[in-house]
Amino acid sequence: MNQNELITVTKLNQMKKSGDKISVLTSYDASFTQLIENSGCEVILVGDSLGMVVQGKESTVPVTMTEMLYHTSMVHRASKNCLVVADLPFLSYATESLALKNAGKLMKQSGAHMVKLEGGAVRLNIVKAFSDNSIPVCAHLGLLPQSIHKLGGYKVQGRDDSQAESILNDAIALQQAGADMLVLECVPASLATKITNSLDIPTIGIGAGADCDGQVLVLYDMLGITSGKRPRFSKDFLVESNGSIQSAITNYVTAVRDGRFPAAEHSYK
Ligand code: KIV
Repeated sequence: MNQNELITVTKLNQMKKSGDKISVLTSYDASFTQLIENSGCEVILVGDSLGMVVQGKESTVPVTMTEMLYHTSMVHRASKNCLVVADLPFLSYATESLALKNAGKLMKQSGAHMVKLEGGAVRLNIVKAFSDNSIPVCAHLGLLPQSIHKLGGYKVQGRDDSQAESILNDAIALQQAGADMLVLECVPASLATKITNSLDIPTIGIGAGADCDGQVLVLYDMLGITSGKRPRFSKDFLVESNGSIQSAITNYVTAVRDGRFPAAEHSYK
């Protein structure tokens, strides 16, 4: 990628078409955003994972709109070329009017270029409303962290045939409703391949195998500074970068670009 190129939805679609892998990292503040910008990473996600890795909470459920606006503003202030995607937190998009109001705040007050929401068929009307109002939107299927109390644990999704079919159908319907990008979290690699090949919009995997159009990791996980056990799909890039955070981030981007990350050991069957 040209280091000074502004990343847009059009550019991400071109990358999918040409088979150039898209790298995505989460960021929650200005300093890390600067390091990510230096690395040539295309997309920064202000993830509601901040509830866990920054605030030390048990899940993403307690994260508020006020917090997302605060962190997105800090990231936006330091971003130059990356496309900045901001998570809509739990229940902030429960109705169409609430979703439009909150997505509008993330874009107008905090500078997000795209918003992300979790869920499939039940979100189609909201994705369509976003699309109709020129709000770029990233959908999120597979393991949905905001639904953790319904799911009963952080488990791989789509292993049985009927669940796999429903995730594939949801992906196609979300694209038809106007989604611009799709995160696939913790699904078997074969299912992610099928979904990626069925869509025109880019898929971004996390625990979804090497065939997605791009990859995302939680920054603190890939720096090995998250407390507790690191998820199987993540990798500590800091240990092999002599303790340099800038090198770790750049090495992640290069590994995604070269197809060296994720390896089979970071994926599910
Ligand atoms: O909140 C987040 O960081 C995310 C990623 C795990 C995709 O949604």
